[in-house]
Amino acid sequence: MRVAVVRGDGIGKEVIPQAVRVLDHYAPGAEFFETEIGYGKWKRCGTGCDDSDIEALREADSILFGAITTPPDPNYKSVMLKIRKDLGLYANLRPVHGDGFSIMVVRENSEGLYSGIEEIGAEMSTTLRVVTKKASERIARCACSILLKDFRNSTLTIGNKANVMKSDVLFRDTCINVADEMGIPYRTSYIDALTFDTIQNPQRYGVIVTTNIFGDILSDALGHLVGGLGMLPSANIGDEHSLFEPVHGSAPDIAGKGIANPVAAIRSAGMLLEHNGIACRDEIENAIAGTISSGISTPDLRGTADTVSFTDALINRLR
Ligand code: NAD
Ligand code: IPM
Ligand code: MN
Repeated sequence: MRVAVVRGDGIGKEVIPQAVRVLDHYAPGAEFFETEIGYGKWKRCGTGCDDSDIEALREADSILFGAITTPPDPNYKSVMLKIRKDLGLYANLRPVHGDGFSIMVVRENSEGLYSGIEEIGAEMSTTLRVVTKKASERIARCACSILLKDFRNSTLTIGNKANVMKSDVLFRDTCINVADEMGIPYRTSYIDALTFDTIQNPQRYGVIVTTNIFGDILSDALGHLVGGLGMLPSANIGDEHSLFEPVHGSAPDIAGKGIANPVAAIRSAGMLLEHNGIACRDEIENAIAGTISSGISTPDLRGTADTVSFTDALINRLR
């Protein structure tokens, strides 16, 4: 297995090496190659990610990605969006597992408000929200397949704002058609009330499929249920490539202190391994739970451990 490793900026540089230790544990023969992408590179080279970086990422079986800091440049185009687009990573899977509930946010990752089609002016700026039947069908099939595989006794919720934005009528109705066709019961919910209810009653939910920005916001909000952003992993999946990254960003407020919670990055590494056929999920989850319940955790979870010593304790619990 060839794994491209992008540490990125801020705490990406701290948590990714810890996640690589876990990859190494389960896939000792794996080949790792580092690719520099992000704000640090932008400061040196004037670009955060060039075509040769994309070509390097294409060579990998999977990519482990930290987080990048958005440069303070009004003309900057998101590197993350470029990578997702160039590699065709159309599905963003964001699992949130807690006490008595298990939710999978399936976020459409290629269009919506992230179309990149914008007109910027001094008096008016616009961003075009694009919803296509093709991409909606593709993400709905992905959500339904995940439900059939891992959430059999659970429900599909279609998160939308079709009451206000008619582009979401197409998204919602396309998802309904796919669910009907695949024999999957569903409900539809408006994203604002849905976000509240997932936090109030998480046990009511299983797979939630939604458009790009709603999935972005919903997944951060769900961090509230499980101890914060330091806990949430994600997978960006396409037909040919796959990239695994924490839901969180580069956290400049704590970067350089060595106290970032590496769980999100370690869980992302776990998703990478599972995607490549290496079963490790239950063991990693047990090691995370065991380490935390033994009293070892980072400050975001009210502990005193640093990033490295937390990971030391966790790795000690792996087979
Ligand atoms: P953030 O997720 O970086 O941080 C939000 C808050 O959560 C901060 O208080 C931070 O300290 C805390 N936090 C996040 N991860 C943590 C961890 N592992 N352990 C402990 N605490 C943690 O979001 P932000 O501050 O809005 O964004 C910072 C930068 O990151 C911005 O430039 C943003 O554009 C970028 N960003 C990048 C990605 C990515 O590359 N995938 C994702 C989100 C944000
Ligand atoms: C995420 C991030 C990204 C997004 C940004 C950095 C482009 O917030 O992965 O959740 O909005 O998708
Ligand atoms: Mn986000």
